[in-house]
Amino acid sequence: MSTPAPEKEVAAKQDGQEEEEQVVNPWEVSAGKGGIDYDKLVDQFGCQRIDAALVDRVARITAAPPHRFLRRGLFFAHRDMSELLDLYERGEKFYLYTGRGPSSEALHLGHLIPFMFTKYLQDVFKVPLVIQLTDDEKFFWKNLSVEECKRLARENAKDIIACGFDIQRTFIFTDFGFVGGKFFENMARIARCVTYNKAVGIFGFSPEDHIGKVSFPPVQAAPSFPSSFPHLFGDNDQLRCLIPCAIDQDPYFRMTRDVAPRLGYQKPSLIESRFFPALQACGENTKMSASDPNSAIYVTDSPKEIKNKINRYAFSGGQDSVELHRKLGGNLDVDVPIKYLNFFLEDDDELERIKTEYKEGRMLTGEVKQRLVTVLSELVARHQRARAQVTEEIVDAFMAVRPLPNMFG
Ligand code: TYM
Repeated sequence: MSTPAPEKEVAAKQDGQEEEEQVVNPWEVSAGKGGIDYDKLVDQFGCQRIDAALVDRVARITAAPPHRFLRRGLFFAHRDMSELLDLYERGEKFYLYTGRGPSSEALHLGHLIPFMFTKYLQDVFKVPLVIQLTDDEKFFWKNLSVEECKRLARENAKDIIACGFDIQRTFIFTDFGFVGGKFFENMARIARCVTYNKAVGIFGFSPEDHIGKVSFPPVQAAPSFPSSFPHLFGDNDQLRCLIPCAIDQDPYFRMTRDVAPRLGYQKPSLIESRFFPALQACGENTKMSASDPNSAIYVTDSPKEIKNKINRYAFSGGQDSVELHRKLGGNLDVDVPIKYLNFFLEDDDELERIKTEYKEGRMLTGEVKQRLVTVLSELVARHQRARAQVTEEIVDAFMAVRPLPNMFG
């Protein structure tokens, strides 16, 4: 891929630092041995940290326990969440917007994270949701035909639906299928506000990049504005939007927030997660990615594949020998099985117990991995059962351009 890392995120490289500089953008996530420095990202990107008070506030307003991703700081950054909650408390609703770039047949566990979290948000806030499948983005960035991107989008839609979204409140669309009308009008309005220089600054486009790539960001920006969906929101162009995603998508929405006031629109709010790391990631130095099958656990994997991948590839913070491990204990900061349990083991007490036992050397790497294999095998099996229920008719029903009469009910 010729799109280089944007200037902002790699700037420190020029300071002659020895440590490899982190790169975080929609196409690349990498960092040195110390792992991704999320604090630094928050400062660089100019978003805000989610603190305990905000988590408590969400719990209070929704009268529901906060999702484990929220209470464990895995969704860790936001933009204008407090303002959105102020309005919500005064009776002003909002809608949710998230998406997926269909570049692979199956989702991996990292992709599930924003969708699981979005389902929680939809359930507790009782709000409508739009899900964008950017088949055009993958056509521009991957060596795939239009037909293949469209097919993958449909396959991915089944995995997304299997996360349990409420059909009464959810509209799923593909760009090739839906872009036009009011949506296209907003794309044009957005595009006219962003100079080529600005786009280069945000996304790092190079002169060799084809103009398809340069033309894409307004497509991902447009769903942030309710007037792109007249069948859902009529002429209400001030309804607030909340976007759950991992922090790699932030550049698109920095651009969107920048242009919103010039169009007389509301800026979308964001709630952003850390990355679910690759199996081999030492200290979370990269995200789980679909392009390397051995770095990822897919929702299509069998229990045997899950077991093999975790046992063979998951980076361990355990010591080299049992004797040494009993003496020194495991290093939680770099241990991938512990990080995965942090995302997917629901029971807080059990998680704390495992962390303590492992850190103090009483629990061995093999035992932690075994618990993880069980947790993930159950999760993936549950997902596969739900996906098997998703027929072509159900996909069509989610994608039908239709009003959602009880979307706030
Ligand atoms: P895509 O398909 O790369 O990723 C889909 C969603 O999954 C998140 N994600 C991850 N989260 C945690 N850990 C990981 N390892 C991991 N890998 C990916 C992404 O942040 C994303 O939320 N351009 C987008 C599609 C899109 C979109 C949106 C995403 C269109 N509109 C609005 C979020 C919000 C893409 O290619 O995502």
